[in-house]
Amino acid sequence: MREAPRPSIPSFVHHRSRLTEGQQHAWDRWWPERGRDVADLLSGVEPYDPQAWFGRTAPLVLEIGSGMGESTAALAAAAPDVDHIAVEVYEPGLAQLLMRLADADLTNVTLLRGDAVALLEERVPPASLAGIRIFFPDPWPKRRHRKRRLVQPGFVALAASRLEPGGLLHLATDWDDYALQMRAVCDAEPALENTAADLPGGWTPRPEWRPVTKFEQRARDEGRAIHDLVYRARPTR
Ligand SMILES: C[S@@+](CC[C@H](N)C(=O)[O-])C[C@H]1O[C@@H](n2cnc3c(N)ncnc32)[C@H](O)[C@@H]1O
Repeated sequence: MREAPRPSIPSFVHHRSRLTEGQQHAWDRWWPERGRDVADLLSGVEPYDPQAWFGRTAPLVLEIGSGMGESTAALAAAAPDVDHIAVEVYEPGLAQLLMRLADADLTNVTLLRGDAVALLEERVPPASLAGIRIFFPDPWPKRRHRKRRLVQPGFVALAASRLEPGGLLHLATDWDDYALQMRAVCDAEPALENTAADLPGGWTPRPEWRPVTKFEQRARDEGRAIHDLVYRARPTR
């Protein structure tokens, strides 16, 4: 398997944000049980051990940038036989997801606070994920900031290497030029194939099951089109 070069510039800016009273309550109640710090996994303070976290062996889907957790909670509820790892740096979003999970009594989501790229590179074993979801990653629209975009060749090679054969990389964005960049980068990755190669333009129709998040709603309000892309990890690499 090829070694993936590490994307060196973080795809996020981490601002410390205050939690609301409800979020703080959820954090204090649930984070110790359901959340972990990527830094602790990287330093070895804690093992990366989904089987222990979930108490079972099940297909594992990792979401990068779960935001406020709308999609994460809905998709976890819709797939109780799948375990989900939500990786996010934004604490109010993680706290909001903890609230959603408690409300819906969901036990198939573990939350990780920190950089998903470092986690994938250093702790997630090759060929171990059934899916990776990246919904509305920060678009970094200014030309000088584009190097911060998550979906770049090194990252896509890394993500592909962590998918099991047949595993799916699902991307969605509301920025046309980022969508084209995603297409070009994923098409050029030999370990992946576009599941919608036969459809017009190679785009996957927007799945009904994905809830419309705040980010997607804003895009719709501002008249931007939504593009979904689903790539499958090839069986032999
Ligand atoms: C535009 S928001 C979209 C959130 C959500 N997916 C949605 O559709 O509503 C992008 C999120 O990705 C997170 N993010 C970006 N790069 C990340 C990384 N490398 N690791 C973890 N989270 C990241 C940001 O903190 C931000 O909350």
